[in-house]
Amino acid sequence: MKISRILFLGAILASILGPWGCSQKPDSLSTLQPDAAKPEKKYEDLIIGYAQLGAESEWRAANTISIKETAEELGVELRFLDAQQKQENQIEAVRKFIIQKVDVIGISPIVETGWEEVFREAKAAGIPIIIVDRRAAVPEDLYVSYLGSDFLEEGRKAARVMAELVAGKANIVELVGTIGSAPANDRYTGFREILKNYPEMQIIDSQSGDFTRARGKEVMTAFLQKYGNKITAVYAHNDDMALGAIEAIEEYGLKPGEDIKIVSIDAARGAFEAMIAGKLNVTVECNPLLGPQFFELALKVVNGQPVPKWVPSIEGIFFPKDASEILPTRKY
Ligand code: AHR
Repeated sequence: MKISRILFLGAILASILGPWGCSQKPDSLSTLQPDAAKPEKKYEDLIIGYAQLGAESEWRAANTISIKETAEELGVELRFLDAQQKQENQIEAVRKFIIQKVDVIGISPIVETGWEEVFREAKAAGIPIIIVDRRAAVPEDLYVSYLGSDFLEEGRKAARVMAELVAGKANIVELVGTIGSAPANDRYTGFREILKNYPEMQIIDSQSGDFTRARGKEVMTAFLQKYGNKITAVYAHNDDMALGAIEAIEEYGLKPGEDIKIVSIDAARGAFEAMIAGKLNVTVECNPLLGPQFFELALKVVNGQPVPKWVPSIEGIFFPKDASEILPTRKY
């Protein structure tokens, strides 16, 4: 086959696959088309826009520090915007980065839906998007990679350890994360998947505490006023809400961790301190230290190297008996 014909077929294929040549499979690889004429970029050449969702939790604070510190260490020019938990601010941030022609946009979408239009704008401008931490419900050709946790599995893990803790029998109240967010959706579903096997474990109420300590405390106070001693367990979608619930339980005159068992997610330092104090029973890890992996992915993407469609974080489960030994090693 003549070279001109091969090039022509290649151009057709590239136009079908789009600028990043993405396949639709979750574990597939996606790349920008490498340009042999261009020298390979280094970290110091990168300009990255990052649309962070806010500062709602200890987890988020650690996540932001990880992104900023890694950029500084690598010499990447980072343009960082904090959307203060408003989706419209995150969309505006992405549009700013498009105008600024950054090399890559990183974003932790506050909720799953409502991103398609702005992601399409980025793709039309030839700027790849890497989704970090929380998924967005968009077609897979609109982003190059998703770096983050398996939230469904976190919910399942929480239910399994809860079942052991309460010997398969409990009246549970659930503190849900931000409504419509990927971790809240999946932690809600994953927990229930496992609970089906335990007929004597019931969720007697479920309300959003928006991933914050203050709201977690408010919602738990209301649960206690409504159900009192009937509550035997709390499932909190993050540590901050669990810490708020602990305060509410103590103010109500019960012992958190004893009268009411508590399982939460994140494994932040505050959770370890609560476990050492005997007030929290389990924390399931959700890793926020995503800076190094994010910039590594970004560099690969601008250099046209293949990247996985999903890069899952490796995460554990922590119990009070190990908390004192592990706490000094925790970075968040
Ligand atoms: O998206 C990750 C979640 O967001 C963390 O579990 C929670 O603490 C944070 O606010």
